[in-house]
Amino acid sequence: MERYVLRFLRASLAWLVAGVTLGVAMAVHPAWAIYRTAHLHMLLLGFVVMMIAGVAYHVMPRFAATPLHSPRVASWHFVAANVGLALLASGFIVRFHAATAGAWLLGIGGTLSAAGAYALVWNLWRTLDHAAVPPTQLVRPVRPVRPLRVADQAAAR
Ligand code: HEM
Ligand code: HEM
Repeated sequence: MERYVLRFLRASLAWLVAGVTLGVAMAVHPAWAIYRTAHLHMLLLGFVVMMIAGVAYHVMPRFAATPLHSPRVASWHFVAANVGLALLASGFIVRFHAATAGAWLLGIGGTLSAAGAYALVWNLWRTLDHAAVPPTQLVRPVRPVRPLRVADQAAAR
């Protein structure tokens, strides 16, 4: 399994733990429900989208029978997605206590998260551009080729 795939799958599971923990904290202490946007982005952008990214990076090149277009961009996507989401989720919390700092965190985190998503789309799209032709569409000879009869072979000489 490629390193970036493993990292995405592990990060997804870590975001599930973090998001669910914040969910339980909100359930126990309802005043913290103001942080629900942090909770839902940890779970949807963190757990769900990173799980999809990890599985897609592994499975799509195999379905298409071609290598991933750019493993380097996938590694860069991993960093952008995780740093971006950490900043975005912090921004969703900090904005209730320090509006300007919160806005900066949201802006930078949101831009990084979006850049990661665009990188994922570009990389998988370019991979599909090189998808192998399925065996059912391979061209077959119209008629089976029969060996020449002995008499025809003599004539051909
Ligand atoms: C142990 C698991 C979880 C707990 C205890 C939990 C708890 C909560 C709580 C307390 C809220 C705030 C509700 C309010 O506005 O008063 C909330 C909102 C939300 N949760 Fe969770 N949650 C959990 C798991 C999940 C998961 C797995 C997802 C998605 C994959 C999710 C998605 C959401 C969404 C989208 C909202 C926002 C709903 C809205 O804006 O009205 N939660 N959750
Ligand atoms: C680049 C990635 C993303 C950015 C920068 C982003 C940013 C935001 C922002 C700024 C809000 C408004 C929050 C508020 O002020 O109340 C929001 C709301 C929301 N986002 Fe995202 N988001 C992103 C990706 C996603 C994804 C992938 C999902 C779901 C799969 C999602 C689901 C939601 C939902 C359900 C709300 C409404 C929350 C509510 O009002 O309770 N977001 N998002």
